[in-house]
Amino acid sequence: MIIEKIESASSLSKILLPEEPKRVLEKLTEKKSIFILKSLFPKEELLKFRRSLHQWGQSTDQNNPEVKFGAANFHRYDDDPPKAAIKRRMHMYNFFPWNDPLLEERKFLQPIIQLQKEITGLNPDFCSTGVSDGYVCASRVSHYPRGGGYYGRHVDPVELEKCSIIIMMSTRGKDFQTGGLYIDSLTGERIDIEGELECGDVIVFNQAMAHGVAPIDPDATLDWSAESGRWMMFTTFSALSTYQGNFSSGAAKPI
Ligand SMILES: [Fe+2]
Repeated sequence: MIIEKIESASSLSKILLPEEPKRVLEKLTEKKSIFILKSLFPKEELLKFRRSLHQWGQSTDQNNPEVKFGAANFHRYDDDPPKAAIKRRMHMYNFFPWNDPLLEERKFLQPIIQLQKEITGLNPDFCSTGVSDGYVCASRVSHYPRGGGYYGRHVDPVELEKCSIIIMMSTRGKDFQTGGLYIDSLTGERIDIEGELECGDVIVFNQAMAHGVAPIDPDATLDWSAESGRWMMFTTFSALSTYQGNFSSGAAKPI
C-alpha cells in the first residue's frame, strides 16, 4: 500500500490534486494508494467549529428523524443500537443541504463535495439541492468519545461514491491517545492510518477496503459530555432507500 502525502493541496477556492482526477480514481480503484492531503484546512478554524458544534450538541436534545427531503439537521448518540448493521459507539451530527447552515460546516464541506465529484466524474449539479435520482447528499460529523468510542469493521458501497473523503478534526496524541482509523489492505495488512493524520488533514481512500475505527482510549472513563476524543467530518451520497430500511443494496456492510 502506498500512502501518498500531498503537502500543498489547499487553495482559496479549490483543492489542488497532484494528478488528473481520472488517474487518482484509477489508483484508488486499484486499492494500492491512499491519499492524504496535509493541512488542507486551518486547525484553529476546525477546532473552533468543533467547539461550537459540541456546545450545540450539549444544549439541544438528540433526535432520530426519518431521513427524507426536508428533514431537519439532528444529532444522536449511538451506543451499540440494536438495529444498527455496523456496531458503533459514537455521537453523530447530521447535516442536510436543504437546511440553512447550522454553523460554519459548509466552509469545510463544500470543497470536499466538489473534490468527490471531480474524482468520481459526477455532474457538478448532482444532489446540489440535496436529492438526485433517488440519492441523498448528507454530511456528518462523528465524535468518538474517549472511553471506547469506535465503529465496527465494514465496507462502503463504491458504485456511486468510489471513495471516502474524510476531514480530520482531531489529532491522536492530543485529543486522545490510542485507537482510530484503520484500513485493511488487499494483502490483509492492517494499516493504522490514524498515526499518519492530524487535525486539518483530509484522507481519500477506496471505501471498498475493509476499515473501521479502533476503540478510542478504551481504558478511560466514558463521558459523553466531554469534547475530547476523535472527531471527523465527511459527506455521503447514499440511496435514499437505505435510510428507509432497504439495506439490500447500496448500504455500508459489516465485514
Ligand atoms: Fe466507512
